[in-house]
Amino acid sequence: MATASRRGRGLLLVIGVAVASVLASGAPPVQPPRIQADVVVMGFVPCNNGTSMGTGSAPGFAGAVVQLRCTDGADLAANATTDGKGRFRMALNTTVAPSSVAGHCELVVDTPLASCNATLPASGTLRSGIRLLVSMVFFPLGFSYVAPSV
Ligand SMILES: *[C@@H]1O[C@H](CO)[C@@H](O)[C@H](O)[C@H]1NC(C)=O
Ligand SMILES: *[C@@H]1O[C@H](CO)[C@@H](O)[C@H](O)[C@H]1NC(C)=O
Ligand SMILES: *[C@@H]1O[C@H](CO)[C@@H](O)[C@H](O)[C@H]1NC(C)=O
Ligand SMILES: *[C@@H]1O[C@H](CO)[C@@H](O)[C@H](O)[C@H]1NC(C)=O
Repeated sequence: MATASRRGRGLLLVIGVAVASVLASGAPPVQPPRIQADVVVMGFVPCNNGTSMGTGSAPGFAGAVVQLRCTDGADLAANATTDGKGRFRMALNTTVAPSSVAGHCELVVDTPLASCNATLPASGTLRSGIRLLVSMVFFPLGFSYVAPSV
């Protein structure tokens, strides 16, 4: 009995020392989950029917479906939905060279502007080209309202 409890205290002491040394060594902070992707497109969708709009030009368009549409063999497609502040982020794997993505792809929002502001048009789309920000991260050039063709 006495031996067992002494051994138990010894074990607790060892664990205590191990925990203390991990804390003292400054264990690395927990990393946010990393997305594995070749291309990331992220940005802000404004709730407005202006042209070349950037961040701050209007309140964010929450719940807008943003589609990445590409042409000319750039075989890419992705959708993302904006958060409550109008921000979106999409990640995709591709064999297309990131350098050719900007020239062949655009962002299209089909979600009616009227859904974020009833005074705005109930049809038409928001469209934006994209530009490379850093190695594989693209940003919208600025969304513009495009009225439906009749
Ligand atoms: C994106 O959404 C559109 C419209 O809902 C749909 O037609 C298209 O297939 C979707 N694309 C992807 C890659 O999910
Ligand atoms: C990209 O491919 C990697 C490796 O196959 C995979 O782990 C990751 O989930 C993929 N990412 C996307 C956004 O499809
Ligand atoms: C809705 O849009 C109108 C016209 O663009 C604008 O004057 C108004 O400030 C907008 N309302 C909100 C809540 O953003
Ligand atoms: C934006 O919407 C308002 C309200 O419908 C309209 O008066 C205005 O002409 C629109 N502007 C553009 C650029 O479509």
